[in-house]
Amino acid sequence: MEEISGILLDWYRLNRRSLPWRETRDAYRIWVSEIILQQTRVAQGLDYFLRFMERFPTVELLADADEDEVMKLWQGLGYYSRARNLHTAAKQIVAMGGFPDTYEGVRALKGVGDYTAAAICSIAYGLPHAVVDGNVYRVLSRLYGVDTPIDSVSGKKEFAMLAKAMLDGHEPGEYNQAIMDFGALQCTPGMPDCSACPLCEHCIARAEGRVGGLPVKGHKTRTKNRYFNYIYVRAGAYTYINKRSDDDIWRNLYEFPLIETEKEVGEEEFYRLPQLQVLLGGTMNPHFRLISKRVKHVLSHRVIWANFYELLLPEDTGLFASYMRIREDELETFPVSRLMSLFLEKKQ
Ligand code: ADE
Repeated sequence: MEEISGILLDWYRLNRRSLPWRETRDAYRIWVSEIILQQTRVAQGLDYFLRFMERFPTVELLADADEDEVMKLWQGLGYYSRARNLHTAAKQIVAMGGFPDTYEGVRALKGVGDYTAAAICSIAYGLPHAVVDGNVYRVLSRLYGVDTPIDSVSGKKEFAMLAKAMLDGHEPGEYNQAIMDFGALQCTPGMPDCSACPLCEHCIARAEGRVGGLPVKGHKTRTKNRYFNYIYVRAGAYTYINKRSDDDIWRNLYEFPLIETEKEVGEEEFYRLPQLQVLLGGTMNPHFRLISKRVKHVLSHRVIWANFYELLLPEDTGLFASYMRIREDELETFPVSRLMSLFLEKKQ
């Protein structure tokens, strides 16, 4: 095992990615980078990290910011609860008088789980906590030929113990980042180039021809379809939006008035929906046009099928009174989902 960790670290010294959050031991910066990288690839997260740091160079500035501004900076990254939690945790940190410096203190921050706490504490403070992320599961399951499902309780324990044993005796931040980079660059999902791998001779999966089958995941999460019908109101220079607030996807992001249906509804059926009749309050011959049809938007466990209808109304309409009335040219200042922003870009 010691030999394997040594090879990993040698590989890292030659191949490590040079990244802005690797030039610092500032826990705030490392925390923000780790939250961005939770469900995002380094290549995509990099620009977001730089913009975030430019706007919020300190945790105090982040804590003081308006939530809409934080969400707007996050727009396009997805998994928006990360941004909301980051903002909440920034306020927690300021209230505590500074960034916590123990594992328990860091783990108690909103939005920080075992992985993120281990990453922050090892990289910023050199504490011996091993990270276990998707890269680590892949590398360890292959190296040691472990086929326990990574999403089972026993699998989680087994991999956490292996990861800790590999880390012992090494500089924790360095070692953790070495194994993550190794998983991202060398021991990749799909078909890695094992002929170029420095651990090839030590790899049980390679010896047994099981590289493609590892790691094993037990429960396949079923994806569910949802059907969204958006109404893009054009009332002179004005339109209407709503802030999503229920316990659902895209919480706190803005969108057009929405009618969600159980099944896909075609144009004619849409015009007859009782929910639509309520919104229209008996308006005769409303001026509708279906402008984007069956837009498919894939989220982690959901597929959204969206239709966008344009509805022309007089500027002084009394309809949609329970929505926010804004000038159309203000739309771009609100944080919106990627589905909405793609529509807004396209309709121009
Ligand atoms: N993925 C998430 N955080 C990382 C880090 N610090 N190094 C490499 N890959 C990562």
